[in-house]
Amino acid sequence: MLVTHTQQELAEQIAEWRHHDEHIALVPTMGSLHAGHLSLVELAREHAERVIVSIFVNPTQFGEGEDFDNYPRSLERDKRRLKKTAADMIFAPDVDTLYPFGPDKATTVSVPGLTENFCGAARPGHFDGVTTVVARLFAIVQPDVAVFGQKDYQQQLVIRRMTEDLSLPISIITGETVRDDDGLALSSRNSYLSDEERAIAPTLYASLQSVGQKLQAGRREFVELEAAAIEQLNNAGFKVDYFAIRRALNLEVPDRDCDDLVVLVAAQLGPARLIDNIVVTI
Ligand code: PAJ
Repeated sequence: MLVTHTQQELAEQIAEWRHHDEHIALVPTMGSLHAGHLSLVELAREHAERVIVSIFVNPTQFGEGEDFDNYPRSLERDKRRLKKTAADMIFAPDVDTLYPFGPDKATTVSVPGLTENFCGAARPGHFDGVTTVVARLFAIVQPDVAVFGQKDYQQQLVIRRMTEDLSLPISIITGETVRDDDGLALSSRNSYLSDEERAIAPTLYASLQSVGQKLQAGRREFVELEAAAIEQLNNAGFKVDYFAIRRALNLEVPDRDCDDLVVLVAAQLGPARLIDNIVVTI
């Protein structure tokens, strides 16, 4: 497995693979890799002969006062983990490589419509940072396929929309959320939790499942279901940012006979902002 920090080396390797008519999959990450990331690598390999994992803690998607400085960075450990997977190359650029004119002067890609609510409302500018960096990675790597996690449901929708809207010839694939045995979705930010908080954290997924079961059973009073879940989570020690039942396709408010729903939650638990979701197909 190759590790490169430069665009030049990346381009040379890609050219060689292209010369052999090999397809390329990209798995963008911010490192601090866990089994969720690694599952995306294996999924990527099912869709292309070559898999590139990018590792870049992207400054433009962190807001004022967010955890950019403290975000866990562990390139050596990430390398060891990726060596055991189907990854062919790690691309770990520095800020100057991805933002030659500086992050503040970057040409920005913005996807209106899907980014104003939920994580976009709580984290102004966050999705512009995500689409800006992913568009750059797409331009540099020019992958056939790119893989994202359902864990960040809104993010993968926004990236799908960007790709479609810009007619980028890249298939976007979404991989299932990988969870700990107790249901907590794996996240680099779980490391911020104390033992006590970690014990409470699985309640988040439990609340999603409980609402999912009620929806499957035919309940349709969305607003009441949301309010009850919020109250339950706040009582358990979370500070809920949003808990919402929406159309899976576009996050709009569903009508009673919508068959494809997503239940989304974001909540603060001590120092960590946790997000999770489930898709409910009736
Ligand atoms: P990061 O949080 O490192 O996540 C990288 C990818 O892993 C994302 O597509 C995310 O949805 C996926 N992922 C995270 N936790 C997962 C889990 N438990 N199961 C399955 N997949 C999971 O998301 C980002 O980085 C950044 O915003 C990025 C897209 C790299 C742009 O900077």
